[in-house]
Amino acid sequence: MYNLLRGKKGLIFGALNEKSLAWKVAERAYEEGAEIVLTNTPVAIRFGNINELAQKCNTVVIPADATNVSEIENLLNETMKHFDGKIDFILHSIAMSMNVRKGRKYDNLNYNYLNKTLDISAISFHKLLQSAKKIDAINEWGSVVALSYVAAQKTLYRYNDMADAKAMLESIARSFGYIYGREKKIRINTISQSPTPTTAGSGVKGIGGLMDFTERMSPLGNATADEFADFCVTIFSDLTRKITMQNIFHDGGFSNMGMSLRAMTMYNQSLDNPIEPKSWE
Ligand SMILES: NC(=O)c1ccc[n+]([C@@H]2O[C@H](COP(=O)([O-])OP(=O)(O)OC[C@H]3O[C@@H](n4cnc5c(N)ncnc54)[C@H](O)[C@@H]3O)[C@@H](O)[C@H]2O)c1
Repeated sequence: MYNLLRGKKGLIFGALNEKSLAWKVAERAYEEGAEIVLTNTPVAIRFGNINELAQKCNTVVIPADATNVSEIENLLNETMKHFDGKIDFILHSIAMSMNVRKGRKYDNLNYNYLNKTLDISAISFHKLLQSAKKIDAINEWGSVVALSYVAAQKTLYRYNDMADAKAMLESIARSFGYIYGREKKIRINTISQSPTPTTAGSGVKGIGGLMDFTERMSPLGNATADEFADFCVTIFSDLTRKITMQNIFHDGGFSNMGMSLRAMTMYNQSLDNPIEPKSWE
């Protein structure tokens, strides 16, 4: 505990259950002295256990669908009322793809689902930032973080339309980061996290194999959810005030690796008994 966020006020989207990356960030931010408000969709509040987290962090849950601008505006206003002041940091930890859920392959997307994927997982970030700027909800030198994944830069088997959403999300962080930084000194970044066994993470089929692969490829190994929370609170803190418009990899080095000894050793083992995929999925 370093009191990194003493006196700061934060709004945290996306805690569904104790596995959620947002859950760990909420706990960690509270531990570091922040006051927080939690939010999620009414359905997630009913099916998850965010209310337990609210009790632990001595706070409230304000429901909002992050794709609905009037609900976001209401959320921001209610949050400022709760704090009796403006917000210092926001975590956007939201994603969903019906194409992934329904097993639609990338060359057979349902476009209504694609629109939903982009709206929930990327455009909601713009809606949040635009609403916050209009009502001047964030203090100067505030910090906003959204969660991304390396599939925005590199193709990863089965990540599907979520790769497009993450590429857009990172672009929104840059474009809005310029405007919000210039006008209000507010910084906006995305953190690109290792695969992590959360509810959304487990929606990507084969996440076990993927996690083993990235663990073997990364010199420091995969970053856990707790490690994510540690890093995230530093980005919310005053110690990182000149970092903005970045996509920061928090992945043990995976994104800059081509081949590692540990992965090569595993690959060589299977060369004795090679298996080809049954089809080009
Ligand atoms: N788990 C991983 O491997 C991994 C890796 C990198 C990035 N991420 C990203 O981390 C973020 C959080 O996911 P997680 O892994 O903690 O899983 P999670 O399932 O715990 O969290 C996803 C959250 O999104 C919320 N959500 C969905 N639709 C919403 C809407 N319309 N409005 C508001 N909230 C909505 C859900 O209720 C849920 O709380 C996502 O952006 C995800 O893409 C996850």
